[in-house]
Formats: sequence, structure tokens, C-alpha cells
Amino acid sequence: MSILEEIMQTDSSVFKNQDIFNINYLPEIIHGRDQELKSILINIKPILTNNKVLNTIIMGNPSTGKTTVIKHALLEIENYTDIKTCYINCNIQNTLRKIYTQIFKLLFEIQPRSNVATEIIQEKIMEKLEQEPLILVFDDLNTLSEPDTNKLINELFRANEYYHTNIAIIIIVNNILFKYSLEKSAQSILHCNEIIFTDYTEEQMYSILKTRCDKGFKPGVINDQQIKKITKTAKEHSSLRWGLKVLNALGLKIETENRDKITDNDIMNFTL
Ligand SMILES: Nc1ncnc2c1ncn2[C@@H]1O[C@H](COP(=O)(O)OP(=O)(O)OP(=O)(O)O)[C@@H](O)[C@H]1O
Ligand SMILES: [Mg+2]
Repeated sequence: MSILEEIMQTDSSVFKNQDIFNINYLPEIIHGRDQELKSILINIKPILTNNKVLNTIIMGNPSTGKTTVIKHALLEIENYTDIKTCYINCNIQNTLRKIYTQIFKLLFEIQPRSNVATEIIQEKIMEKLEQEPLILVFDDLNTLSEPDTNKLINELFRANEYYHTNIAIIIIVNNILFKYSLEKSAQSILHCNEIIFTDYTEEQMYSILKTRCDKGFKPGVINDQQIKKITKTAKEHSSLRWGLKVLNALGLKIETENRDKITDNDIMNFTL
């Protein structure tokens, strides 16, 4: 038997479900963000009755649950309505061309031809959006280049004036001063309801990390005091994501060393 086969056949894993510690994992339970989720859905509500919506800007430091909450909001909308939703991660769709291509693909279910100018793709999108509403999310918009951000805001926010479109635009940024980095014309057209995601308290962070440990590790792998210790450092780093990465890395470390418990020393010596 090869070593790989041996590893695959023995269930010596300390993880009940390692996916739980994956950064892109979407938790079923969102701790302490009910109000923010509700505000997002209230902002979107008019589109469900074919009325004009006021757009939304979500602001908050990294790791405050913005992406997690919006993904839950989109799931609710997809489950309860037939309105199309388009989630754009501007870290990946990082140019205007890529953004419009993604929206085009969603609306027309085909890829635009590569020799078609971006302006034409945009025009086709707007014409289509005169016939059907759309919920459009731009996550991490602050990662897009400044000229592209200004152009995108100018084009989309003016669309509801020039075309009879009904688009609910939701912008997510991790910088409260984002608006002021825009050029004047984009600033003046950016009328949005603001939803602020405040930093988590240490208790909130603890309950999130504790839930993940309960779901992700087998019983006894880590104790509450150890989770509290990791939470404290995560709070000092202002990063829940850091806490999740550390938990995953600790699990992997003891697993490779054939141990079934994280020790206080592991935590103390740990550097990521
Ligand atoms: N309220 C919460 N309940 C459960 N898990 C959460 C919560 N908030 C954040 N998390 C978890 O913390 C990690 C970071 O959250 P998320 O990606 O939503 O943050 P973000 O605000 O979008 O950060 P960034 O600005 O860096 O994109 C994710 O793994 C997510 O599952
Ligand atoms: Mg995010």
C-alpha cells in the first residue's frame, strides 16, 4: 500500500469537517449581524414590488462579515424570489471589461464575443435591464482601479436616469473614506443608504470561533480556554480571519504530528 493510500484509509483526522475553517466557507449561522442583514433586505425590498430602490453601500473593516452577510442576503433572495442576482468580486473581476462580461453572461447566458467593444456590451446590458430588474453586488469595490471605479459608478448610477432600468446596486468597501477617493462626478451621483459593519467585540469573535471549532474539530481537540486565547490575539490583530487561519493551521500541525489534542504550548509557539 502506498503512503498516500494509507493516509487516505486511516481516519486519524482531528477535523470533523476541515471545510469549516476554509476562508470561503459560508457559515449557516451568522452571529450578531441580524440587523445588518435586515437593513440590506429592507433596502432591496422595493425591487420585489417593481419600485425604484435606493442603492446601498456597505462599509466596514476587513473580516467584519460583509461578504458573509451579503451572500446570505443573496441566498434568501434567490430562495424566495425569481429576481436575478449578480455577485461580482472585484478582486477577481478586476477590470470594467471583466465586470460587464460577467453581467452579460448572467443576463444572456452566453459569453460576449471577444471582438465586441466594452461599450457595446454595456449598452446591450442596459437594454436588457429595461426589461427585467437586477440585484447587482460589487464586493471589495475599493480594489478596482480608480479610473475604473469612477467610470463604473458614473455609468451604472446614471443608468436609472437614461435607461428605464431597475437595478439595486450594492457596493461593499472596507474603507469608510472610500467615497472621498472618488472623483467629484462619481461622488455626486453615489446616493446610497449606508450600512456600517462595526468591528466585532472579543465576545462576538469568541462565539464565532467557538461555533467553528465545535463544528470543525472532533470533540476534545481544543478547549474553551485555548479558543479564548486565540480570540484575544485575533482581536489584537483585528482579524477574525486570522483566528480561523490559526485554528486550521493548528489542526493540521497536530494531525501531521499524529496527536489528537492542541496543547497550550502549540498555541504559544504558533506563528503563522
Ligand atoms: N457574523 C459572522 N458569523 C460567522 N462567521 C463570520 C461572521 N463574520 C465573519 N465571519 C467569518 O469570518 C471570515 C471573514 O468574514 P468576511 O469574509 O465576511 O469578512 P469581510 O468583511 O467581507 O472582509 P473583507 O473586507 O476582508 O472582504 C469568514 O471566514 C467568515 O465566515
Ligand atoms: Mg469580503
